[in-house]
Amino acid sequence: MTTDEPLVLGIETSCDETGVGIVRGHTLLADAIASSVDEHARFGGVVPEVASRAHLEAMVPTIERACETAGVALYDVDAIAVTSGPGLAGALLVGVAAAKSLALSLGKPLYGVNHLAAHVAVDQLEHGPLPEPCLALLVSGGHSSLLRVTDVTSAIDPMGATIDDAAGEAFDKVARLLGLPFPGGPHIDREARSGSSVAIDFPRGLTSRRDLERHRFDFSFSGLKTAVARWVEARERSGEPVPVADVAASFQEAVCDVLVRKSLDAAATEGIEDLLIGGGVAANSRLRAMAEERASALGIRVRVPRPGLCTDNGAMVAALGSSIVSRGLPPSSYSLPADSSLPVTSVLAG
Ligand code: KG4
Ligand code: ZN
Repeated sequence: MTTDEPLVLGIETSCDETGVGIVRGHTLLADAIASSVDEHARFGGVVPEVASRAHLEAMVPTIERACETAGVALYDVDAIAVTSGPGLAGALLVGVAAAKSLALSLGKPLYGVNHLAAHVAVDQLEHGPLPEPCLALLVSGGHSSLLRVTDVTSAIDPMGATIDDAAGEAFDKVARLLGLPFPGGPHIDREARSGSSVAIDFPRGLTSRRDLERHRFDFSFSGLKTAVARWVEARERSGEPVPVADVAASFQEAVCDVLVRKSLDAAATEGIEDLLIGGGVAANSRLRAMAEERASALGIRVRVPRPGLCTDNGAMVAALGSSIVSRGLPPSSYSLPADSSLPVTSVLAG
C-alpha cells in the first residue's frame, strides 16, 4: 500500500442496508453496515418507506463507526463515492444527500456510482485487479444480470437480465411458501443440504429452444416459483407432509442450473475466460460449487467475493470510487440526482 493511493469513503443505501466503507486504493479499511432487514421480515419483503427512515437514522452512526474502525478522520478522505442508482428512490436519496453534504462540507470530490458496477468492483478488495474483459453474473434480491465488463469504471454492457423475478426474490418467495423466515435464501441453502436435488424435476426457465432464440442470456424465475407453489399445494391437499428439504434442494438446483448454464454459454460466446459472481445469491453454496465445477471443465476461472462482500455494503461503492479516482475520471456534479433506474451502462453518474 502506498500513500498516493486514494482514501475513499463509499456510501450505499439502495435497498435495506446502510453501508459505509473506507478503502485506500484496493485495501479495505472499514466496512460498517446497519441493516433494517428485521423491520421488513414480517412483511416478507423490503418496505421502501421503512428502509428510507432506517437509513436516515443509521447514517451518521454508521459513518462514525467506519471512520473509527479505519482509524481515519473525515478530513483525511480524498473522495466521497455514493450509490446513485439503481435502487429504491427514497432510500437512494438518503445516501446521495449524505454524500453531497460530506463532499461539500469537506471540499472533496463526489462520485455518484452505479450499484451493479460496484457489485463487480468489490471483488478487487479480495482477489486483486479484475481480469478485463470478464463476465459478471449479478444475482440478488433486486437484480439478476449477465454483464460483459470491458472496464469496470467505464465500459459495462448488459448481455441478459431477468424478465420477471430476480433470483433472490425467487428464493425469498419459495422460502415463504415453505414456512421459512425472510430473507429466505440462506434458509433454503441450509435446508437443501439434507435434501435431494433430483427429488422433483422443477422447470428451467427460458431454456427451451424457442425461448433461447429470443432470450438466450435472459432469466425467468416466476414460472419456477409457481411450479413450486403448485407442487406444495398438491401435497397439502392430499394430506401428505411437505418434504421441505427435498423441495428446497430441487428448487435451488433448478435456479443454479440455469444461472450457471447461461453464464458459461455467455462466457464461451464472448471468448471470456473469467466469470465473476456477485450479489446476495452468490453466497449460495450450491451456486458456488456448481459454477466452480462446470467452469473448470471448460477452462473458465470463477471469482466469487466472500459472502459479506457479495451482499450490499459500502465497501463495494468505495472500491469502485477508488478505481474511478485512480483512472482520473471527472467527478459528478454536486447536483447529482438519485436515479432509481440508472442503467448499468452509466457507471459514473452526472
Ligand atoms: O445483494 P443483496 O444483499 O441485496 C439486494 O440487492 O437484493 O441480496 C439479498 C438476496 C436475498 O434475496 C437473499 O435471500 C439472497 O440474496 N441470499 C441468498 C443467500 N444469501 C442471501 N440466496 C441464496 N442462497 C444464499 N445463501
Ligand atoms: Zn445489490
